[in-house]
Amino acid sequence: MPVLLVFGLFVVIATAHNITFLEVPQYGDPHQEASLVCHYVSEPGDPDLHSVKWYRGSNEIFRFTPGQQPPTRTFNSTAGGVSRGNCNLHSCTISVVLPRNYNTRLSFTCEVSTEGPRFAVVKQTKNLTVAVTLKEDPVIMGVPGTVQLGEDVILNCTTQPAMPPANIVWFIDGRAEKTEPWMVNNTQVSSANNFGLRSSWRSLRLRVSSVKGFMALRCEATQPTWPPYTRVTNATLVIARSPHLSMFTAAGSNSAAFEATVLILATCISVHIFSKYSALSEV
Ligand SMILES: *[C@@H]1O[C@H](CO)[C@@H](O)[C@H](O)[C@H]1NC(C)=O
Ligand SMILES: *[C@@H]1O[C@H](CO)[C@@H](O)[C@H](O)[C@H]1NC(C)=O
Ligand SMILES: *[C@@H]1O[C@H](CO)[C@@H](O)[C@H](O)[C@H]1NC(C)=O
Ligand SMILES: *[C@@H]1O[C@H](CO)[C@@H](O)[C@H](O)[C@H]1NC(C)=O
Ligand SMILES: *[C@@H]1O[C@H](CO)[C@@H](O)[C@H](O)[C@H]1NC(C)=O
Ligand SMILES: *[C@@H]1O[C@H](CO)[C@@H](O)[C@H](O)[C@H]1NC(C)=O
Repeated sequence: MPVLLVFGLFVVIATAHNITFLEVPQYGDPHQEASLVCHYVSEPGDPDLHSVKWYRGSNEIFRFTPGQQPPTRTFNSTAGGVSRGNCNLHSCTISVVLPRNYNTRLSFTCEVSTEGPRFAVVKQTKNLTVAVTLKEDPVIMGVPGTVQLGEDVILNCTTQPAMPPANIVWFIDGRAEKTEPWMVNNTQVSSANNFGLRSSWRSLRLRVSSVKGFMALRCEATQPTWPPYTRVTNATLVIARSPHLSMFTAAGSNSAAFEATVLILATCISVHIFSKYSALSEV
């Protein structure tokens, strides 16, 4: 009797395969097909694999049934569905054509069932947001070598083309740039490029007013996706310590400008300029 009970429990627990990992990218570029992979394992004592089904939302888009001919079938492929699938007893990979509706969230479910009599089913769902995310950090342009107290500086932060376009926020010494209430959205967005992508930029005008020797600037570009996608770039404004030093740097501006150009080309804007001028100030 106890043996039967234990055996019964074993059967109940071990009839379903286990989905070990469901690979669904968080963001999908509609210019490419998204590759989704469902990994599953059978436990000792499991019945054989019966089928693996993929759903987009509640619509079935793909089915793998190893015991049938043909083993794979696609559904709804006209309306942007599965272009191909490659499945075996351990994993099932499908390529999905994504719609061009940016910022829509698609949910994909992998459902694995084992043979009868129970046809036990396990499933997992993950979301994918249609978006072309920023591939690089934003770029801050216009960082001068050194600045004077009271000087006005204009900087520009630009992103690579992406969709949906990023919103840009500047931070000065850790605080978000003050904006007038009526200027809700100071991010400028370019027109769409050949791929339908838009870059964003936002300029920052600030008066140098720090008592420290520098001001820490941060440009934060966030795409309003779900979840939001953010990339950040920092820069440092180095404030000249004395009129004497500023005359010195003005006189040496040719080589300084050359250095600065080289450094900006190397896209190492802030830290290097900072250390350069720290070195100068020791002269
Ligand atoms: C399924 O696999 C995961 C990851 O290996 C594990 O954490 C989980 O306990 C397993 N579930 C079952 C029912 O075996
Ligand atoms: C195909 O997908 C559309 C929405 O994406 C849905 O309305 C329709 O019922 C689906 N058809 C089948 C056969 O699943
Ligand atoms: C997926 O998106 C739906 C709404 O579209 C949401 O209710 C659900 O919580 C999301 N799931 C995850 C894992 O983020
Ligand atoms: C900022 O950079 C963008 C992209 O390079 C450019 O279109 C824009 O005119 C610049 N804005 C300012 C104020 O320099
Ligand atoms: C700012 O503008 C972007 C693109 O122009 C838009 O997607 C975003 O919703 C706007 N944000 C606010 C707070 O208005
Ligand atoms: C940018 O600065 C912030 C603090 O202001 C820091 O937390 C972050 O790590 C910095 N990022 C990079 C890429 O240096």
